[in-house]
Amino acid sequence: MSHTLEYLEGMARQHAIQAVRFDKEGKYDDAIKHYKKVVDLLKKIISLYPDNGLNSVYRQWIKEYEKRIKDLESLKLAATSNASMVESDDVVEDVVLKDKPGIKFNDIADLEEAKEAIREAIIYPTKRPDLFPLGWHRGILLFGPPGCGKTLLAAAIATEVDGVFIHLDAATIMSKWLGEAEKNVAKIFKKARELSMSGRPVIIFIDEVDSLLGVFSNEVGGEVRVRNQFLKEMDGVLDKSFKYLVYVIAATNKPWRLDDAFIRRFQKRIYVPLPNREARLELLKLYTNGLKLSDDVDLDKLAETLDGYTSSDIRDIVMATHLRAVKELFEKYGGVGEPRRITMDDFMEVIRSRKPSVTKELVKVYESWYEKFKAV
Ligand SMILES: Nc1ncnc2c1ncn2[C@@H]1O[C@H](COP(=O)(O)OP(=O)(O)O)[C@@H](O)[C@H]1O
Ligand SMILES: [Mg+2]
Repeated sequence: MSHTLEYLEGMARQHAIQAVRFDKEGKYDDAIKHYKKVVDLLKKIISLYPDNGLNSVYRQWIKEYEKRIKDLESLKLAATSNASMVESDDVVEDVVLKDKPGIKFNDIADLEEAKEAIREAIIYPTKRPDLFPLGWHRGILLFGPPGCGKTLLAAAIATEVDGVFIHLDAATIMSKWLGEAEKNVAKIFKKARELSMSGRPVIIFIDEVDSLLGVFSNEVGGEVRVRNQFLKEMDGVLDKSFKYLVYVIAATNKPWRLDDAFIRRFQKRIYVPLPNREARLELLKLYTNGLKLSDDVDLDKLAETLDGYTSSDIRDIVMATHLRAVKELFEKYGGVGEPRRITMDDFMEVIRSRKPSVTKELVKVYESWYEKFKAV
C-alpha cells in the first residue's frame, strides 16, 4: 500500500501539534515520542518524493525537531538526577552576585543624566524610604547603542547600593535554561521577594533583556511562556501593596524589540547615548592615564575627531594606539626596554582605519524611539 504525499504530510502535522502540546505541558516523554514521529514522517516524504518542492523546508524542520528532542532528553536526564534532591536552589545561587564588581559612578565617564536618574530612583529611596511616601519607580529600563555604558552603570549600582544584586544575562539564561527558563524566572523573583523582607534592597538586573522576548517566536518549545511569567512577576514587584525594595533594571541595545506590555512595566526609561564631546575627552583621559604620551598629543582635538564613536570604540582605539608602540618595541628591539611615547600620528592612523561601530542613522532610531515612549 502506498501512502499519498498529502496523507503523510497530514500525519506529520498532527504529530507536530501533539508534540508541541505535550512539550508545553512539560510531558517530555510524550513530546519526544511525537517529535520523533514527525521526523520519521518528514524523512519518509523526502525519500519517497525527492522532487517535492517543500523538501528544503522539511529538512529545516527535521533539524529543529531533532534539536528539540535532544534538548528534551537532556532536560529529562537533569530532572531524574535531581529528583532525590529537594528543590535545588542552584539557579538562584548562580545569579546572586557575591563579589561586588567594585566599579563606582566616578569610574564612569559622564552619563550624568543617567546617574542622576538612578540616584533618584534607587539610591535615595533605599537610603531613606521614609522620604518617598508616594513610592518610587521599581522598573527601570536602560537603553541605547551598544558600548556606551549600560552594563557598566548596572555594575556601579551594585557597588553604590548596599543590597543584594542579582545579575541575569537574558541571552545566556535563555540558552542555558532551555525549557526551565519559565520556572527559573519564577524562582528568582521568589527569592528576591524573600531576601527583600530583611529590609535590604534587592536589585534584579537583566542584561540584553530583549532576548527574553525576541528569539522565541519559534513555537517548537512554546517559550512564549517565559515572557508571560516575567510580566506576571513584574506586576508582583510593581504592586503598591508590596512594600519591600525590589527593583528590576533591564538593559537593551534593541528597545524596539520590546512590546508595549513590557515597556509599560518599566516606568523609568533612561537613555544611555553616545558620548558627547566632553564625555569623549573624559574617556580619553581615563584610558590614556598610565600611558606615555608624546607632547604633540592633543586630547581636545582627538575628542573632537571622535564624534560618532562609542565609549567602547574609544577604549579600543586607545588600546590599539598603545599597541603600536608596544609592537614596535618587540619588532625593533626584541621586546627589551620601554615602548616609545605614543604620538598624535599613532592615534590618527588608528582612527583612520576604524569606523564608528554605530551609524548616524541608528542613533536617530534610538532617539525617535525615546521620543515615542517618553510619555507612555
Ligand atoms: N561611560 C563610560 N565610561 C567609561 N568606560 C565606558 C563607558 N561606557 C562604556 N565604557 C567602556 O566600554 C565597555 C563596554 O561598555 P558596556 O557598559 O558593556 O556597554 P553597553 O552595555 O551599553 O553595551 C565598558 O566595559 C567600558 O570599558
Ligand atoms: Mg551591555
